[in-house]
Amino acid sequence: MTAEALVKVEGVKKKYETYLRKGLKREKRVVEALKGISFKVYSGEVFGLLGPNGAGKTTTVKVISTLLIPDEGRAEVMGYDTVKEAVKVRQNIGVSLSVERGFFWKLTGRENLTYFGMLYGLDGERLRERVNELLELVGLSEMDAADKLYEEYSLGMKARLSLARALITDPPVIILDEPTLGLDPPSARRLREILVDLAHNQGKAVIVTTHNMFEAEIMCDRVAIINEGRIVALDTVPGLKSRVADSITLEILARVPANVSVEELVNELNGYEAITAKPEGEGVSIKIMIRPQEKEAVTAEALKALHSRGVDVRRVEVKEPTLEEVFVKLTGRRGF
Ligand SMILES: Nc1ncnc2c1ncn2[C@@H]1O[C@H](COP(=O)(O)OP(=O)(O)O)[C@@H](O)[C@H]1O
Ligand SMILES: [Mg+2]
Repeated sequence: MTAEALVKVEGVKKKYETYLRKGLKREKRVVEALKGISFKVYSGEVFGLLGPNGAGKTTTVKVISTLLIPDEGRAEVMGYDTVKEAVKVRQNIGVSLSVERGFFWKLTGRENLTYFGMLYGLDGERLRERVNELLELVGLSEMDAADKLYEEYSLGMKARLSLARALITDPPVIILDEPTLGLDPPSARRLREILVDLAHNQGKAVIVTTHNMFEAEIMCDRVAIINEGRIVALDTVPGLKSRVADSITLEILARVPANVSVEELVNELNGYEAITAKPEGEGVSIKIMIRPQEKEAVTAEALKALHSRGVDVRRVEVKEPTLEEVFVKLTGRRGF
């Protein structure tokens, strides 16, 4: 089976107009959320939109889902235009833009799904079967989970139910905005497994947004890295990583004295191509992308610089570059 492009996004631009409050005055502000993005999503793949907060991920999936009209460019689903044939598009997509939105808190999970199934025109035995199938698929059929009130659901259960709702009509295209945000690791893992299965074994085109690079790496077949409204790279995960294949990552775990900011440390180490710093445990994890032949020199230099600031270096490790290094290299930013 040759894969088919089920979703096409071509040159989409989108601006938001908002107001900034300046004392008693309001000042108009225009945000260019999307500055011309294009990509295709094929049947059988999990396609990731990966980017930091504010990159334009949600705006992109809202355009595909017919919830926003692009200022320029166009999007289509199964050949239908998201503006001119919005009804057709909606019949072909399953969407979850927010895990909690739209559910009835005083109904059980099963009752909620049944309600939405009725909205989509299912009834009788067919509806009952579909609801059971979906509850089974998302792992809510065990231990009375389906018959608990929605208000008693954990976030992980809500996320599963939200996915089940998106699948009611068995659509060819599934669109999920940050589906694992805030979930406990087992729930997140289960959700990712379901999405991969839907794509690989059922031929769905699955579009997910995430700001979690690790997640993109393990879940997505192809990833578009999006930053400030532009796609800065689009490839398979190995393809993206090959862009930094000539590099290694030096990870330094350190305790930083209270009077030294991480920002200062990063400035101290400036001059390297890509560097990130993040809190980890009680210290910080500093990552520097370097060429393998620079390893000794850079390690010595970095340790000296850190020691001069009173930083207590706990561990130095050499690692394979991740999507984070790709992102930092492509954007010049210091990670997410
Ligand atoms: N309704 C809105 N009004 C004004 N600005 C918005 C609105 N929604 C999003 N934005 C802005 O558009 C940009 C992209 O937002 P979004 O698509 O939500 O990014 P992401 O989902 O990647 O975090 C951000 O700068 C954001 O602040
Ligand atoms: Mg978002």
